[in-house]
Amino acid sequence: MNWRGSQAESRRRYLVKYDAEEVDRYDAWLLQRTREDEDACLADIASAFQFQPGMSVLDVGAGAGTLCRTLALIPGLSLTALEPSPAMRAKLQAKHELQDVVVVDGFCDSDDDRLLFDQAAFDVIVSRQLANGLFDPLAAFRNWRDWLKPGGSVLLIDGLFDRTDWAGRWQEEVDVLPQSACRTMAMVPYLLEQVGFQIESVGLMNATNAMSSATVVRYLVVASKPTSSIRSRFV
Ligand SMILES: C[S@@+](CC[C@H](N)C(=O)[O-])C[C@H]1O[C@@H](n2cnc3c(N)ncnc32)[C@H](O)[C@@H]1O
Repeated sequence: MNWRGSQAESRRRYLVKYDAEEVDRYDAWLLQRTREDEDACLADIASAFQFQPGMSVLDVGAGAGTLCRTLALIPGLSLTALEPSPAMRAKLQAKHELQDVVVVDGFCDSDDDRLLFDQAAFDVIVSRQLANGLFDPLAAFRNWRDWLKPGGSVLLIDGLFDRTDWAGRWQEEVDVLPQSACRTMAMVPYLLEQVGFQIESVGLMNATNAMSSATVVRYLVVASKPTSSIRSRFV
């Protein structure tokens, strides 16, 4: 039984849903983020991971640039944004503070997507608000593992969502996307472990969640790619 349709259909729907109106709405929210919101996010990240100058960072599902904007406040990072929606990419590229970000068109969660980047191309892979919308989280995490250098890190930020959070045009996706309404922080680290990551920390983003702007409870998972080759069976 094909219980959820194909990945190609899912991708087509995604791109249609992120039309100009939806992306304008998203970007308007992004532009309202204050320096205090950014600092709260950075404080939560700093409690679990230390960025170093010179690190190459891939933001997967970068959207209009929410996390890129936050990370651009850290000196010396080299940022790449992977984003399949043309309207989202245009919003990101229009932001003057993100002019140095390398922007790549693509999805991340099929085996074919692995060719988008070289093996061991990045020190860090970050994603914010992407995991709940992945059609194939395990395929994504395998690709991320391939794109990371040995010893490299994943920083995954997501929210604890209910079925009712998927409203309007997004409602039909709840029973298509495996992590759409995951009310636990356990699923992401569990899946990352399945493809060979070591989990470094799992926790709520207390500073972010304490902001008056917070509309959903967010959490951060930090995982690392082992440096040895004993995990090569996961490739
Ligand atoms: C909810 S938005 C989050 C955007 C941004 N990270 C943020 O925090 O605002 C999810 C983004 O992921 C992109 N996306 C959806 N599926 C994806 C996939 N399989 N691989 C990469 N990006 C994807 C969407 O086009 C969208 O821009």
